[in-house]
Amino acid sequence: MATSTSERGFRPASRLSEIRPSPIRAIFDKAAELEADGEKVYHFEIGRPDFDTPATVKESAITALNRGDVHYGPNAGTLDLRSAIADDLAQRRLLHYEADGEVLVTIGANEAVFLAIMAFCDPGDEVIIPVPAWAHYRECVRLAGATPIPVELDAEDNYNLDVEAIAAHVTSATRMVVICTPNNPSGTVVGEDELNMLNDVLKGTDALLLSDEIYADLIYGDAVHHSPAALPDLRDRTLSIGGFAKAFAMDGWRLGWLAGPRELITPALRVRQFTTVCPPAFLQPAAATALRSAREEAEGMRAEFERRRNVGLELLTGIPGVHVTRPDGAFYLYLTYDPAIAEPADELALRLLSEDNVAVIPGTAFDPEGGTYALRISYACHVDDLREGLTRITHALTTKQGETNR
Ligand SMILES: Cc1ncc(COP(=O)(O)O)c(C=O)c1O
Repeated sequence: MATSTSERGFRPASRLSEIRPSPIRAIFDKAAELEADGEKVYHFEIGRPDFDTPATVKESAITALNRGDVHYGPNAGTLDLRSAIADDLAQRRLLHYEADGEVLVTIGANEAVFLAIMAFCDPGDEVIIPVPAWAHYRECVRLAGATPIPVELDAEDNYNLDVEAIAAHVTSATRMVVICTPNNPSGTVVGEDELNMLNDVLKGTDALLLSDEIYADLIYGDAVHHSPAALPDLRDRTLSIGGFAKAFAMDGWRLGWLAGPRELITPALRVRQFTTVCPPAFLQPAAATALRSAREEAEGMRAEFERRRNVGLELLTGIPGVHVTRPDGAFYLYLTYDPAIAEPADELALRLLSEDNVAVIPGTAFDPEGGTYALRISYACHVDDLREGLTRITHALTTKQGETNR
């Protein structure tokens, strides 16, 4: 357990007592073991693009490094990158933020989530998180000593944002509501009607809205991304999050952003000043290049993800006892299955890995209560591997543990 005292008696902080070890770890470790033994593993567990960062972006970083951009910079990030982010948000998402004071460049979207929660959540506060959801929200809320309040969304309703269910959980202790659109793991996109309903629910409360839009550029078919802060009534209470990892294949660069009204960004900046201080200097000009000059490459990657989504949906639809969510964005397929057809997902994921060399994430990583019979499959991999891996998953879902070996 995270808080157990070490042999020499060093006791971790009690705030870690509630932080669960990631259920994903067991999958990563086992996959690494198989690969060390020379086996091919189908990697559907990974939440990062399988593409390289566009060349223009890399060149920009090299130029900056050679120019000597190797020192501390402004706490909020360089004004040039903040301006590029503000311009991009205005053009593509109808979001209007001042580069100076309303945009903070972060160390990945991860830090944006951390700063927002640390800046605004106290012990006793409640944070509503519709689930299934990326686990970091829940664990950051716990690190802040606040209480995550999961609200179950319905698989049969494609995990659409259930604003009535959220409303039923709003209390005087509600400090924040988290939404993620397009969603990890479901790929569901929040509609404008739902945002208007959410606005009605939050009106008159002092709850903030944390809107994680890191997948906003990965949208498919007729789906449209709506940023909550583009609604004038929601803007005041919304902290918008985005990043470079997913759209530009820059996950290892660790850059993202937090944007919101000055009143909300200033406290987040105060946390930043005493933690990570500033983003890496020579990476920031390159991130600005991504936004200004690498949109074509990003569109190529988006189109390929859409093609894979369609292949994946086709292969997984129609398996008896299996329900696949139709994702309108991101790069995941989320499926739920009837307990009668296979063991719980934590066990099924281990069986898939040991018998079929397929790595997936069990739904419990996104919803400890409701994800017992669910799997997340990332299609950030080659389409041939996707086809083969999904065939193996289908086989596993139609043959219970112990019934057969491949
Ligand atoms: C929903 C969501 N938000 C944020 C992040 C973190 O992104 P970054 O790599 O920019 O920290 C991830 C990464 O998987 C994610 O899935």
